[in-house]
Amino acid sequence: MNRRKFLALSGGGIIVAATATVGTIASRTPTAALAPWDQAGVIYEEPRKRALSYAILAPNPHNRQPWMVDLSTPDTVILQVDQDRMLPHTDPFNRQITIGLGCFLELMVMAAAEDGYAVDLDLFPEGSDLTALDGRPVAVATFRQDDTLGKDRLFRHVMSRRSNKEPFDLSRTVDPALIGTIGAAAVHGSRIDGDTSDQSIAELRLLTSEALNIEIDTPRTFKESVDLFRIGKAEVEANPDGIDFSGPMFETLGAFGLMTREGTLDTSSTMFAQGKVAVLENTETAMGHLWQVTQGNTRTDQINAGRDWVRLNLAATAAGLSMQPLSQALQEYPEMADHYTRIHQMLARAGETVQMLCRLGYGIDVGRSPRWPLDAKLI
Ligand SMILES: Cc1cc2nc3c(=O)[nH]c(=O)nc-3n(C[C@H](O)[C@H](O)[C@H](O)COP(=O)(O)O)c2cc1C
Repeated sequence: MNRRKFLALSGGGIIVAATATVGTIASRTPTAALAPWDQAGVIYEEPRKRALSYAILAPNPHNRQPWMVDLSTPDTVILQVDQDRMLPHTDPFNRQITIGLGCFLELMVMAAAEDGYAVDLDLFPEGSDLTALDGRPVAVATFRQDDTLGKDRLFRHVMSRRSNKEPFDLSRTVDPALIGTIGAAAVHGSRIDGDTSDQSIAELRLLTSEALNIEIDTPRTFKESVDLFRIGKAEVEANPDGIDFSGPMFETLGAFGLMTREGTLDTSSTMFAQGKVAVLENTETAMGHLWQVTQGNTRTDQINAGRDWVRLNLAATAAGLSMQPLSQALQEYPEMADHYTRIHQMLARAGETVQMLCRLGYGIDVGRSPRWPLDAKLI
């Protein structure tokens, strides 16, 4: 709360009027933005749309939901990227965006199998560019009925999967055996490793905190996140994507002007300082880390990394463990170069790319994140 806002708030009638509205404000859940979670597998009959209604629940960077699908060819889904939904400052080569598209494809394939459809995926059939995704198809997916198809045991966790952005419980250690249990879920070529030892936790807490500080202290990368803040129900419903701050506390802070994009960007403000403390509390409460590494780094490798990432996230859900990706040190912009090199020295063998790094632990239950409905994503 900065001084001017505090004075305005404490000035007489404003605070009384504001308090009177808190009850109404606090109950404003962004129901429409969460509806796609309830609609998955329910509102569509057509097999491709049924599968896609789950795919749109995929984890993806900054919840940009950069997918668009063309269903004009029978039995076929053509996946393209929405080029207006990239993260040019923190993800200049669209590597992370591609991973998110891999998560989307994996959930689509898993959901199709539930309905007895096998999906043949042709990735980047017209080629790809490693410096930027473009208008060419990311995948052409062909659906084919197959009654012999096995179902995926991870599918039942799709509805409860989360990226948990809350501090983890410092009193609950993570069983090191879980690294192997979760890692076994990766079947698309990633090498999974992790560490829950005190020494590794300390080293990676430090490195991920430093990387987060670099992102926040670099104005253009921080602004890329802050521009995606959705504060309170009205903003979340208008744009069910980005970094959502909904629920009673944020609704109230937003309504009182105590949390604004402008204030957060002002490095001299309390909002900026408090925001930093809040995110660093996450890196500092890691109770272990898990990482995902690939030998190559082609677009196909990145898609396969995404397919494995969502499987890891689902396997962690099955094990009752919380996960939060910590991608800052993996980002490819000049200010991060030193940390990018160091994290690769720590976690990768020569020539390998660390595609994902996350913290592990036990966090409070967190809610579902907003989604655009499937109909908004049809070309
Ligand atoms: C490639 C990739 C990178 C991500 N990086 C981060 C990150 O650095 N920090 C974070 O809190 N979440 C990260 N996430 C998680 C997304 O923010 C999350 O998936 C999205 O907000 C949707 O929320 P949900 O996964 O709970 O449905 C990442 C996800 C992906 C796929």
